[in-house]
Parts: sequence; structure tokens; C-alpha cells
Amino acid sequence: MTTAAIRDISVGGIEPILRGKVRDIFDLGDQLLLVTSDRVSAYDVVLPQGIPDKGAILTQLTRWWLDKLPDGIRHHMISTDPADFPEPFRSAAQDWGPRAMLVQKLDMIAVECVVRGYVVGSGWKDYQATGAICGIPLAAGLRQADRLDDPIFTPAAKNHEGHDENISFEAACDLVGGDLMTQLRDLSVQIFSHGRDHADRCGLILADTKFEFGVDSEGPVLADEVLTADSSRYWPADQYQVGISPPSFDKQYVRDHLASCGWTGDGSPPDLPDEVVAGTTARYQELFERVTGINWETWKEQQS
Ligand SMILES: Nc1ncnc2c1ncn2[C@@H]1O[C@H](COP(=O)(O)OP(=O)(O)OP(=O)(O)O)[C@@H](O)[C@H]1O
Ligand SMILES: [Mg+2]
Repeated sequence: MTTAAIRDISVGGIEPILRGKVRDIFDLGDQLLLVTSDRVSAYDVVLPQGIPDKGAILTQLTRWWLDKLPDGIRHHMISTDPADFPEPFRSAAQDWGPRAMLVQKLDMIAVECVVRGYVVGSGWKDYQATGAICGIPLAAGLRQADRLDDPIFTPAAKNHEGHDENISFEAACDLVGGDLMTQLRDLSVQIFSHGRDHADRCGLILADTKFEFGVDSEGPVLADEVLTADSSRYWPADQYQVGISPPSFDKQYVRDHLASCGWTGDGSPPDLPDEVVAGTTARYQELFERVTGINWETWKEQQS
């Protein structure tokens, strides 16, 4: 069943404290309501078309992973059940579908916690140029998409233009404090390894991912989206091959289309044809189904 994309999130008379490229965030005192829209961005530009169901799939995949984290890992999720949302959000949620998550409001840590298990993307470029990824020296002779037995932690900070910039572990420690950064590194690698083991059992490869953490009085808390197609690179295991960049479940399909139109981020973006939109929904949906073992359409019907 195809549904229309929901790009605009509105709650009568209430403005979000933040309208991100993808999420609208409403302030509820010591809690936040994170509503993930169907907006899609490329090169930091929001595209004119939305991807139907994307926001719901990202929210529900995050929820699924958070429910299954190893014991002792603290996270921000309180509920995805609209019955737990205060009015007028409870009523408004009827228009959004399962796109909203009530979370603990945290002081966010200004360092993005990236874990890489494969030599790919910007990591492959870095390795070719320097023999290292983000300053972490690696064995000689690695090829594109080679697996790293020990995943590496490569933090990033947002620069003045709002783009992520890789920084060394030492620089990250200088920014947030060495003890906290060490905790974040160990947590990130632990959660990544948990995700990678599960992905292996689903015929998927989790190549790399980005976590965001906040802190409360008891220490670090995992926040934001977790192990989704927007925050991670997943490959179908049966299409994996060393030496090439395997097809992934993320926005690469959209980016390939934009590249074929000659658009690489300057000026206004081209429209996405219907088949690119539908193909992108299908990829998000397939990843959800492979990770969770849940049929998306069936799950959606059960909600309504
Ligand atoms: N529990 C939380 N408490 C406070 N802020 C949070 C929490 N969870 C997530 N956030 C913040 O909410 C925002 C999510 O919005 P969104 O993902 O749309 O924007 P973005 O991350 O700035 O942009 P993009 O993901 O497109 O790069 C991020 O700024 C994230 O750090
Ligand atoms: Mg984000």
C-alpha cells in the first residue's frame, strides 16, 4: 500500500524548538518529542520530494534497537505510544502515524561517535592518502571495503558550517573531557559490535555507524536515532565484495539519481521521479524487515 509522504509536521499553534533537516523537535519540559518526517536530504539540502514511510521506519527501527540493547546501556527513549504523549501531541500524532518518540531531554555532547568496521567511503579515501583512517594507522595493503576485525572509533565534530569534521580521539577528549570520551568510545564500540553481530545473522553487513550521546546526572545516555539506514551503512552480505563499494540501504540510491542529473549540491535540487521515490521507500523497508524480521505492511496494519 502506498501512502503519501509526510514532509510537514504540524501541531496547532505550537512551534518546534528545532526543525532539523529530517526531525521536528518539540520541547515538553524535561522531555522532548522527536518527530521524524519523510523529508530526505542530500549534500545537506532537503529535497523537494519526501520518501513515504521513511520517518516511520526510522523511528520504529530505532525503537527496535533500543529495546534490544545489551543490559546496562542507558538510552533516551521513554515511549513511542501516542497514549503516553501529552495533548495536543497525542491527537496530532494521529496525522503523523508512528513517527514520534518521546525521549528524555539531554544535554547533547558535541561530538558524533562514529564507529567503522570496514575500509570504505571517506575512510577508504583517507586510507589511500595516509595509510590511516582519521589518524588511526592501519595495516598496509588493505583494499576498498576490507573488514577491520577490530572496529575503530573515529569521532567527528560539527564545524562552523555545520558539516561533520573528523577529529582525533585526543581532540575529542579535549572538547568533552578524557574520562567521558573514553566512556563514549567504549559504549560506541560495544553497541556497534552488538549491531554487527545481529546484522551478520540477518544476512547483512553493518559497515559503519554514527551515535549521538547526551548526559544526565548519572552519566552518558544514548540519544538520537540508532543503527538506522540514515545513521549507518548496511550492505546485503550476498553482494559484498572486497575491492568495490557494495550497494547500501541508505540514501545512496537517491544520491546516484541526483548525480545522474549532474546535481552535486549546488543550486536547487532536481525533482525525484516516482520510481526513485518508490525505490528508496523499498530500500528503507527492506532494511527494517531484514533487521527486525517484522513485515512492515503487516506491522502498519496492526497499528491502525
Ligand atoms: N534526547 C535528546 N535530547 C536532546 N537533543 C536530542 C536528543 N536526541 C536527539 N537530539 C538532537 O535532535 C536533533 C535531531 O534532528 P535531525 O536529525 O533532524 O537534525 P540534525 O542531526 O542536525 O541533521 P542531520 O541528521 O540531517 O544531519 C539533533 O540535533 C540531535 O542532536
Ligand atoms: Mg540527525
